[in-house]
Amino acid sequence: MSKAIIELNHIDITFHQKNRVIEAVKDVTLHIQQGDIYGIVGYSGAGKSTLVRVINLLQTPTDGRVLVDGDTTFADRKVQLTSEELRQKRRQIGMIFQHFNLMAQKTARENVAFALRHSGLSKEDKEKKVTELLELVGLSDRAENYPAQLSGGQKQRVAIARALANDPKILISDEATSALDPKTTKQILALLQELNQKLGLTIVMITHEMQIVKDICNRVAVMQDGRLIEEGSILDIFSNPVQPLTQDFITTATGIDEALSKIEEQDLVKNLPASSLLVQLKYAGSSTDEPILNQIYSRHQVTTNILYGNIEILEETPVGEMIVVLDGNRQGLEAALQELKASNLQVKILKEGV
Ligand SMILES: Nc1ncnc2c1ncn2[C@@H]1O[C@H](COP(=O)(O)OP(=O)(O)O)[C@@H](O)[C@H]1O
Ligand SMILES: [Mg+2]
Repeated sequence: MSKAIIELNHIDITFHQKNRVIEAVKDVTLHIQQGDIYGIVGYSGAGKSTLVRVINLLQTPTDGRVLVDGDTTFADRKVQLTSEELRQKRRQIGMIFQHFNLMAQKTARENVAFALRHSGLSKEDKEKKVTELLELVGLSDRAENYPAQLSGGQKQRVAIARALANDPKILISDEATSALDPKTTKQILALLQELNQKLGLTIVMITHEMQIVKDICNRVAVMQDGRLIEEGSILDIFSNPVQPLTQDFITTATGIDEALSKIEEQDLVKNLPASSLLVQLKYAGSSTDEPILNQIYSRHQVTTNILYGNIEILEETPVGEMIVVLDGNRQGLEAALQELKASNLQVKILKEGV
């Protein structure tokens, strides 16, 4: 059994404004294991940033309990921490942001070194440490550059080096790739994954993009209106999302909604004959699709016309999705659908011919 490095238990966070009460986080319980890359996904305003701010003591919960690495005094309202204690605890957790938050008048090296000002290291050791950190993020040749001389991806690398300066066990990434182009995003995600593996770093990834979750997370929680509405392993969530919002996020991430709108433009689909069904099929695991589709013709005289297909490997398990037109007589179609469902495929009828 791996051990939980972060436990959030029944967290409520309520803000009181003049004549308004905002319940930003409502009764959220989630446990993150050491070494996880844990995604928290949700639209803007869902409460993601507010929730993770309790982990590094930037936000005190209105109610609930926070445990970080077995330490119960994290964000406990009953415990008053001195500013030195607070600083020490915060140092155990690194954080990176969408807009990097670098100091413009300091070089890359100085930005990273600034995070070591309370470290107690000698000047030489600090310099050595900064050099190592810049090397770790692949930025040795940019040490003397100012933020304005760096690309977005390079700035985020400086921010990552700074976040790791005090050897935290946890890194919180709050939309850290949202300001980057797709290619740079991939590179930063690859770096985070490498740091996770090399250093055993636990990473909490806040994002509004399920694609990012799919690329590097092993677990994900979905938030909506302050609540955690669904949580699970990447394989579970992607192969069998339960909540409509989770399904929406996944549909966008897999590109199937784009495929669908193109398919709907096709003449065959526009004028679907009465003997045809437009069907979406989904499977996870070993139930490979093609043999089953072939059998459906031989057993029920139903032809299949594949209009779209996509297979991805998640946690070493193939997860496939297809859009097909099934054509046959009414009885045959019924029997074919039953057989597909019995073979553990998820079957959704998108359109019936008229
Ligand atoms: N300091 C604050 N005071 C008042 N309301 C806040 C504060 N911080 C966040 N909120 C509100 O809490 C809700 C959740 O915000 P946030 O955690 O930033 O969501 P997300 O990160 O998912 O976009 C929003 O309605 C936001 O306006
Ligand atoms: Mg946010």
